Amino acid sequence: MTTTSIGNKYGSLGLLVLQTTTLVLTMRYSRTQQAEGPRYLASSAVVCTELLKIAACTLLIFRDNSKSLSSTLWDEIVSKPLETLKLTIPSGIYTLQNNLLYVALSHLDAATYQVTYQLKILTTALFSVSLLGKRLGNYQWLSLLILMTGVVLVQWPSDLTLVPELENLSAGTQFMGLLAVLVACFSSGFAGVYFEKILKESKQCVWIRNIQLGLFGLAFGLTGVFAYDGDRVLTGGFLQGYNSITWIVVLLQALGGLVIAAVIKYADNILKGFATSISIILSSLISYFWLEDFDPTRLFFLGSVLVITATFLYGFDQKPVVSSNVA
Ligand code: C5P
Repeated sequence: MTTTSIGNKYGSLGLLVLQTTTLVLTMRYSRTQQAEGPRYLASSAVVCTELLKIAACTLLIFRDNSKSLSSTLWDEIVSKPLETLKLTIPSGIYTLQNNLLYVALSHLDAATYQVTYQLKILTTALFSVSLLGKRLGNYQWLSLLILMTGVVLVQWPSDLTLVPELENLSAGTQFMGLLAVLVACFSSGFAGVYFEKILKESKQCVWIRNIQLGLFGLAFGLTGVFAYDGDRVLTGGFLQGYNSITWIVVLLQALGGLVIAAVIKYADNILKGFATSISIILSSLISYFWLEDFDPTRLFFLGSVLVITATFLYGFDQKPVVSSNVA
């Protein structure tokens, strides 16, 4: 591995930790703010995020290419319809996943949802092995199990009796929610690994791939706006309820799309799971010290130790075995 590729790998992972931590903190902060007037439409935020991602990728391509921007986009996107169409699969699955998570959140309490969604760490590993032919050592499988247990403990609610939604949810409703999260775990693993396969098996640049993904995301997103919020857009406008925090969340989410693409290209989906797990701990600690809206429990500390142990264990197993007769 060259110094540049090591720099790209750890640089992109570090950026993902930073971006996820900032996004979680901003979303927490925005929930504590008393909003005036109508709430912003989640479906319109999805569209704005896709537009920003496409614009940012276009700028990156402009920076990196000596050819004119329009001919690069034409040659790589319009003139290669089959390559572009490949992205309908991850894009469609991500759209399905975002909707499933919405269903899950309205049928389950937030804690159960977050804890169950961590199963995606294992589904991602399973798809990496079956679709990409990745080989994981026994310690790496063990470290993934420890990682999943650690994140589950970190997110475990401090007092189940204080989760008000739990009492009002019937068994049938919770079952629907669980089913939605489980399907989302598989779709998250599959879409991420499929995108990795496309990125690593062709020569097209990662930003072109992201524009292709974003274009389909935009089409699916606009369909969502008209299907769910068409009437509200007609009466209140597309950007109703937006404030500076909404724009920061949209910006961070767009940045997240770029960073995730870079992580998938330079590292992989499994390492992405480690980076997001570490940022869950970081944002909780920052919440405790700065926002003072989080009370760490013993389970949180135990979970954090497990996540950190798993991270080292996974890296340890990745090192090549050095022959003993090499002096
Ligand atoms: O939960 P999970 O890690 O699967 O979520 C990945 C998120 O990243 C999805 O919401 C997807 O839309 C987004 N993504 C992106 N650009 C990529 C890959 C994923 O915006 N190139």
